[in-house]
Amino acid sequence: MYDFKIEAGDKASLYAELTEAAAALVAGEPDPIANMANVAALLWESLPELNWAGFYRNVGGELVLGPFQGRPACIRIPFGKGVCGAAAATLEPQCVADVHAFPGHIACDAASRSELVVPIVADGRLAGVLDLDSPRPNRFDQEDAAGCVILIQRLKTALAGMAEEGTKLA
Ligand code: SME
Repeated sequence: MYDFKIEAGDKASLYAELTEAAAALVAGEPDPIANMANVAALLWESLPELNWAGFYRNVGGELVLGPFQGRPACIRIPFGKGVCGAAAATLEPQCVADVHAFPGHIACDAASRSELVVPIVADGRLAGVLDLDSPRPNRFDQEDAAGCVILIQRLKTALAGMAEEGTKLA
């Protein structure tokens, strides 16, 4: 049913295409878990060299595992702990070239070597974070970070569960 062919040559076009495809996937759907699940699957099959792609949700001031693709992961992460917790505490994207050098990094999968985490802020509130992990050191650069920030900015209402039923979100 959904068959997106993402074949962009450069990263800016790749993330622009991904953002359009993801917006189409969540259009009209108010359930944030369903939307996170489809966006995680889209990123997983479209971005090379990942070993984990998914979401943690802000549940009562703690990050709780949400929909993802990859190996089973840690379920709860306090704000301020690890890369995801740093993104939640600072509300700033975290692009980590070498997770082994990041103080407090939480190793869910020993294969992970680099990581990109983008906070999802909707209506002034942290809804959760997008987390991408790679087995290759230095897999993510500022273009990946900028691309994911644009994608999350576009999808934030759908991922935060603030979309009204039947509303077209694109
Ligand atoms: N490594 C992350 C934890 C989440 S997993 O990688 C899926 C961190 O330090 O926040």
